[in-house]
Amino acid sequence: MYRNLRELLLTIMAMLMLSTSLAKPRHIVFIVADDLGWNDVGFHNADMITPNIDKLANRGVILNSSYVQPVCTPSRHSWMTGIYPFKAGLQRGVIFPEQAVCSPLDMKFFPEKLQKLGYSTHMAGKWHLGFCNWDCTPTNRGFDSFLGYYNGAEDYYNKTILNGIDFHDNKEPISGDNRYSAFVYADRAKSVIENHNKTKPLFLYLPFQSVHTPIQVPKRFEDMYPDIANDQRRQYSGMVSAMDEAIGNITQALVDNGMMDDTLIIFTADNGGWPGFGGNNYPLRGGKITIFEGGTRAVSFVSGSGIAKPGSTYNGLIHAVDWHPTILAAAGSSTDDTNDNIDGLNQWKAISLGGESMRTELVYNIDNFVLAPNGHAAIRVGDFKLIDGYPGPYRDWYKPEQEYENNPHVTTDYQYYSKIVQDDLVKNNGLWKGDGLYNLKDDPTEHHDVSKQHPEIVKALKAKLDEYRKSYVRPNFPSNDPKANPKNYGGYWMPGWC
Ligand SMILES: *[C@@H]1O[C@H](CO)[C@@H](O)[C@H](O)[C@H]1NC(C)=O
Ligand SMILES: *[C@@H]1O[C@H](CO)[C@@H](O)[C@H](O)[C@H]1NC(C)=O
Ligand SMILES: *[C@@H]1O[C@H](CO)[C@@H](O)[C@H](O)[C@H]1NC(C)=O
Ligand SMILES: *[C@@H]1O[C@H](CO)[C@@H](O)[C@H](O)[C@H]1NC(C)=O
Repeated sequence: MYRNLRELLLTIMAMLMLSTSLAKPRHIVFIVADDLGWNDVGFHNADMITPNIDKLANRGVILNSSYVQPVCTPSRHSWMTGIYPFKAGLQRGVIFPEQAVCSPLDMKFFPEKLQKLGYSTHMAGKWHLGFCNWDCTPTNRGFDSFLGYYNGAEDYYNKTILNGIDFHDNKEPISGDNRYSAFVYADRAKSVIENHNKTKPLFLYLPFQSVHTPIQVPKRFEDMYPDIANDQRRQYSGMVSAMDEAIGNITQALVDNGMMDDTLIIFTADNGGWPGFGGNNYPLRGGKITIFEGGTRAVSFVSGSGIAKPGSTYNGLIHAVDWHPTILAAAGSSTDDTNDNIDGLNQWKAISLGGESMRTELVYNIDNFVLAPNGHAAIRVGDFKLIDGYPGPYRDWYKPEQEYENNPHVTTDYQYYSKIVQDDLVKNNGLWKGDGLYNLKDDPTEHHDVSKQHPEIVKALKAKLDEYRKSYVRPNFPSNDPKANPKNYGGYWMPGWC
């Protein structure tokens, strides 16, 4: 029938090309849980009630070595741009409401590229990537629509942070919706799904406010945990279950609208749980704000369309910067679009088919921290992790109901954040160096510093860090700008002051 092999091959190639160009790109839902600890989901801890999350995880691939930054803004910057925060001046911490800072505008966010691929792109939840100029905001950085917060740590009901309301529907500030935010974001996601024109692929970004401070939850969720005596932990656990119900409602909306089979769901925490505020990372060491594993190894999974081995665990290394090229690849982009000058590696084949990770090393962070004389940095290469300098204020292995011993009493957690580091450094005379080498394969909970046994590995990893330091950009961490004051904007946090 075919005159020769060449003709046969050409025919097959043509058929393949036709089928890829005709194949409908999948829908993608990217869910982020804020400050969710390693030990705070049912599939890691049987005491947690998260049936919807567990179902997705157990039918998908659990990502067991998926890393993020130790706090919120840097992690979000990482997946949006595919570029490490220490190259963008965002390594110091979160962007505070009155700081004139946003994720650098010359670094492209992946949803902009998804729009070019024909996706409808929508977001409901927390931004925290800067808002002082309209160019910094979601609808100017790749989203067709946006409902949510520009900052973090708002009141879950009245959507206020400090002296301003921080709630926006596209470009309009809104007030009067005093429903608990997990319900609001679930409803918005539902309506995006219901109104979606199914001839186009959908990208939905759902960075929940849950389960960040303040500790607030409708009573029926708190009541799910009568056996937890510690008030904060009981309420926090309820917050997790409220988010789980929201995720259940969103997946139900995908089913009801006939989209579930064509949807890839990605779930990740933005950093570890906060030991001072109900979160728990046991048995991992440390928590949010530290570069120990408890602050940086995220609860994460992928589920749904394209996943070849449902019900498995993937142990290959992944870092938050990888989501940028990985999501673009899952959306059918060619490699050319996915790999322009970024730190992220395309892990789509690895996680969808279960192959080797593209990643053999990752940087946890590099910051010549102003408060700590030695700065702080950490790197992992293969099984070894080097912490070079101050690891952060949480260095213990906290149990779920254990209270963090040094909770300072301050009015906002923005104050808390710097106070806890200052207190810690004062207590330790600013001299805590925290140099440590850990073999994460044998010792994933970082109990044994093996730097004395392996000076050559310490040296090699320090040399690696020095290579990365060549592209270090100083933290963009200015003092507060009074122009930001919501008093200038009718009581709302609004762009227009940088
Ligand atoms: C919002 O609620 C908080 C309590 O969480 C309260 O302190 C604040 O005054 C409220 N703000 C407004 C504008 O209602
Ligand atoms: C959906 O989009 C297609 C192509 O863009 C268009 O032809 C169609 O009218 C749209 N359907 C609805 C219900 O808007
Ligand atoms: C989930 O949907 C049910 C049924 O509509 C509703 O009663 C509930 O409030 C929703 N929960 C959340 C968290 O959105
Ligand atoms: C997840 O990683 C830990 C090491 O931190 C390992 O002990 C465990 O076996 C891994 N889980 C699976 C299912 O591979």
